[in-house]
Amino acid sequence: MNPELARAEELIRSVPDYPEPGILFRDITPLLADAEALRVTTQALIEPFLGTFDVVAGVEARGFILAGAAAIAAGVGFVPIRKAGKLPRPAASVDYSLEYGTATIEMHDDLPAGTRILLIDDVLATGGTLAAGRHIIDRLGYSVAGISVLFEIEGLGGRELIGDLHTVFRSA
Ligand code: PRP
Repeated sequence: MNPELARAEELIRSVPDYPEPGILFRDITPLLADAEALRVTTQALIEPFLGTFDVVAGVEARGFILAGAAAIAAGVGFVPIRKAGKLPRPAASVDYSLEYGTATIEMHDDLPAGTRILLIDDVLATGGTLAAGRHIIDRLGYSVAGISVLFEIEGLGGRELIGDLHTVFRSA
């Protein structure tokens, strides 16, 4: 790993027992607040996929931050996949389980059929969020160009569930 990325990884803070006892929360806010760390990690998220996608999508809420930055860095647009009830004209809805709860995501269908979407999120844990994100993109007739994640928590089944994905950092 190059030194700039290694330095960025050190800015990810592990917070025990948040938001519930037994959960080790990976807090990327110190990394986001550092201009160089934000730049190199955004670049690392998109690099393997450059030229293969038309738009970037992110899942609310933390996924929006990196997906928005990635869209600008790649020179493409951004599409939000939002939690239920936040979009005015949702075209599809998918329920999923989280490490600490359940949720529903929704998405608009304003893109042309077959649009190639790079799906980005901050953290992969159980993989439920990204599996739901991939599912809703498929349901709407778009194509998943790739899935890219800043931080993979190993041992929770995420990689097994999602299969082919790119992760910048990982930790047991
Ligand atoms: C977090 C994180 C990922 C997801 C990872 O989002 O931002 O999207 O959990 O967990 P999984 O792999 O087990 O699905 P969360 O749903 O907590 O919402 P937030 O982004 O609004 O904080």
